[in-house]
Amino acid sequence: MYQSDGQPCRVLDDLSCSIYANETVSVVGASGVGKTTFLHIIGTLERPTKGRILHFGQDVFSWSDQRLSWFRNQEVGFVFQFHHLLPEFTAVENVMMPCLVAREKASVARERAMALLEFLGLEQKARENVKYLSGGEQQRVALARALVRDPSLILADEPTGNLDEKSGEKVVDLIFKMKERFSATVIIVTHNLNLARRADRCIGLKGGRAWELHKERLADFVMEKAA
Ligand SMILES: Nc1ncnc2c1ncn2[C@@H]1O[C@H](COP(=O)(O)OP(=O)(O)OP(=O)(O)O)[C@@H](O)[C@H]1O
Ligand SMILES: [Mg+2]
Repeated sequence: MYQSDGQPCRVLDDLSCSIYANETVSVVGASGVGKTTFLHIIGTLERPTKGRILHFGQDVFSWSDQRLSWFRNQEVGFVFQFHHLLPEFTAVENVMMPCLVAREKASVARERAMALLEFLGLEQKARENVKYLSGGEQQRVALARALVRDPSLILADEPTGNLDEKSGEKVVDLIFKMKERFSATVIIVTHNLNLARRADRCIGLKGGRAWELHKERLADFVMEKAA
């Protein structure tokens, strides 16, 4: 529940769903239904007013702030709708950042960041300032940054939203490739139904709730009015 102009605004309500380890789940739904909120709560960036998130049976919001930020840093990789890279830094520095925050040795962090950038086809761009990279390249740097700590859970919020079709597909291919390589659990919020269908399972958000969707029903679900 958010406060909007002093009025309570209920976004997710009576929502229940399970995500299993190592699966890929896509999340679809109309603009404003709460997809980003859903990801933020799962990733513990926001606290729900009510309800629980169980991570292997443990209620994450009962943890101390310190444990929560450790969890966020160690276990979760976020790929945001807008990539939020640091514009004054190079690609490799952006990718290293989560390692430095976790007090890893800089030389080790740099090596890992470089290896990932190479894997994502960006070795030529590693030392360039990210503000001079194209949108697709920036999104790949953001992907590398999300993965550099080897998270068990990858949360991607419309990772192709700002990209043309070709760059979008490349980013999506990379997400699936990375998932295989790192055997992580992936949750992708997307308006792109082709991408949504590539996941193991699809969840639709509507009326505050989560609905398990058949892949053939995705388009109908997105077109229907809120229940
Ligand atoms: N910090 C906030 N304070 C108040 N209301 C908020 C806040 N964040 C989101 N909302 C409201 O909650 C609702 C859900 O927002 P959310 O960003 O989760 O939607 P979304 O499904 O991700 O939409 P989109 O597809 O456009 O990205 C919207 O009505 C939004 O205005
Ligand atoms: Mg959103």
